[in-house]
Amino acid sequence: MISIALPKGRLGRAALERMGGADGACTLEGQGRRLVLEDEARNIRYFLVKPSDTAIYVEHGVADIGIAGRDVLLETRPDVYELHDLGFGRCSMAVAAPTGWHDARNAPLRIATTYPTCAREHFDRKGRQIETITLHGSVELAPLLGLSDVIVDLVETGATLRENGLEAVERIFESSARLIANKSSYLFKRSEIDAVIQGMLETPASAGIDA
Ligand code: PRP
Repeated sequence: MISIALPKGRLGRAALERMGGADGACTLEGQGRRLVLEDEARNIRYFLVKPSDTAIYVEHGVADIGIAGRDVLLETRPDVYELHDLGFGRCSMAVAAPTGWHDARNAPLRIATTYPTCAREHFDRKGRQIETITLHGSVELAPLLGLSDVIVDLVETGATLRENGLEAVERIFESSARLIANKSSYLFKRSEIDAVIQGMLETPASAGIDA
C-alpha cells in the first residue's frame, strides 16, 4: 500500500482529482471529517493534513509521497525528494503594502508573515534590515492595524490584497504544487510510487479541478 499526505483545502481537492484517476474513484465529497481515506482498488491510503504539514509526514516516512506547495518547501527545507511540478496551485510569494506606501528606510522594516525564512532570505539579499512577526493566517490585517509595515504572503488572484487596500510591491518567487517523496520509500517502493505518479500526470488538469 502507498500512503499519500494530501493538503486539506483547495490544493488537496485538486490533487485528489488527479490522483483519484479519471473515474474519480476517490473524492472528498461526503467524507465528512474523516482524515484517512482508502482507495482499496488502487491500494492507496490518503492522509488529509494541514497544507504546511504534508512535508513533515513525508520526511518522517509515515507517508510515502505527498503534495506540498513550493512555498512550504522553500520555507521549511524538508529532507525529501521533489519529483514533479504538478502545475496547479499556482501563486506568487510577494511583498505587499498599503496602497501608495514607500519604504522610508529609516528603521528596520516590520514584516508580518507566515514565511519568516523566505522573508529574511529575500531582504538579506537586498541588505535591508527587517523584523519579522510570524502570523498563521489573515496576514493582510497586520499593516491595516499598524502591527507591521508590510507583509510577505502568497498572492493568487490578488483579491485579498485589493479588498484590504493593499498592493504587491515586489514578487519574490512563483509557487505551485509539488509532488514530494520520502527518500527511503522512493528507493524501496519506486515502481508502486511511479505507477501512482504516472496516473496522476496522465489525468488532464482540466478534469473539473476546483482550485
Ligand atoms: C491565502 C494567502 C492570502 C490569500 C491570497 O490565504 O495567505 O491571504 O490566500 O489569495 P488571493 O490572492 O486569491 O486573494 P488563505 O485563503 O489560505 O487563508 P489564510 O489567510 O488563513 O492564510
